Amino acid sequence: MATVVPFVPPPYPYERLDALKQIADTQPGGVVDCSIGTPCDPVPDVVAAAAADAARQSMGYPPSAGTPALHEAAAAWMARRLDVEVAPDHLAACVGTKEMVVSLPHLLALRDPERDTVLYPAVAYPSYEMGATLANRRAVAVPLDAEWHLDLDAIDPADARRALVLWINEPGNPSSSAADLAYLERVAEWGRANNVVIASDECYVEFAPDRNTILRAGPDGVLAVHSLSKRSNLAGMRVGFYAGDPALVHYLTETRKHAGFMVPTPAQAAAVAAFADDAHVDEQRERYRARRDLVMERLAADGLLHAGGPMLFYLWLRDDHGADGWAMADRLARAGLLVSPGDLYGDAGAPYARLALVQPLERLEPALDRLVKGG
Ligand SMILES: Cc1ncc(COP(=O)(O)O)c(C=O)c1O
Repeated sequence: MATVVPFVPPPYPYERLDALKQIADTQPGGVVDCSIGTPCDPVPDVVAAAAADAARQSMGYPPSAGTPALHEAAAAWMARRLDVEVAPDHLAACVGTKEMVVSLPHLLALRDPERDTVLYPAVAYPSYEMGATLANRRAVAVPLDAEWHLDLDAIDPADARRALVLWINEPGNPSSSAADLAYLERVAEWGRANNVVIASDECYVEFAPDRNTILRAGPDGVLAVHSLSKRSNLAGMRVGFYAGDPALVHYLTETRKHAGFMVPTPAQAAAVAAFADDAHVDEQRERYRARRDLVMERLAADGLLHAGGPMLFYLWLRDDHGADGWAMADRLARAGLLVSPGDLYGDAGAPYARLALVQPLERLEPALDRLVKGG
């Protein structure tokens, strides 16, 4: 009889940093936490007001797929900022994109029981792999090219035949990679040629030099996944959406409705207000740019170089003297700065460390000063 191994959840990635956090916390002012990509900047007033107004009104169950107003606002945002026309009923809400990332393999496997594999970038947001694991399916990491993009040529044809979905994440966590449109078009074509759903996680799109979406290559076989967590500093609100292939969006909307996924009414109202406003995003981008310039310059003087791409949210650090991600994180923690060792994002990330530029300059500067003084 085959042995069935019960699932034991692995430690949550950021809980592995508890010891480093304690070290960083002993510095004056406490830990400067740049480990998790959680925005700490203010929620725009117009967004907070919309949520508060909605919270004072009727609180019946919200539509699982999202309100018509949310559909309209998200479609208008895509047209305005991403230069792509999406019909409002070819998109639907999700409760932040993490639950969407993790639940997708399970729902796709119900739809296509012959396939059992999730393909994802070998250095990536950990939830792509976890979604496969929690669906009891195979997770296969695909190597990246020299610019941190998933290398389509590295996909084993045998894995492609079994694949339910291929995840890409451009602009990318943790490397800040930013693919051009030609790359996204190639990925969409690959998915169509191999009959594999392409899920394109585009939650950092506002912080790249060009705002590219895979939907510019047409919706067939493709889902673009978007979040307000990073764009509008709304990680605590839990609201995002997915858009693309009409049949796929319809299938997911119907299954997710049965599963009871619903974005709370005030969060949907907040999303409508957030998608209608670009000024706060432009402001936020300038904050990240200023932090990136400062931290990059100060760390480079100390032998820690950004080895990733141009997106503004993360620095992907490599030590000139060859220290690995944990050694770098240890050294930075002694100055009060908490970063994530790169192996949290896959074994190939081990030589790197990720710094999320989520803390204000006045918190970053003293830690950078201590780093230099510490030698
Ligand atoms: C690449 C990527 N996708 C998705 C998410 C999840 O974002 P949320 O669930 O807040 O929309 C994150 C959060 O860090 C992320 O880095």
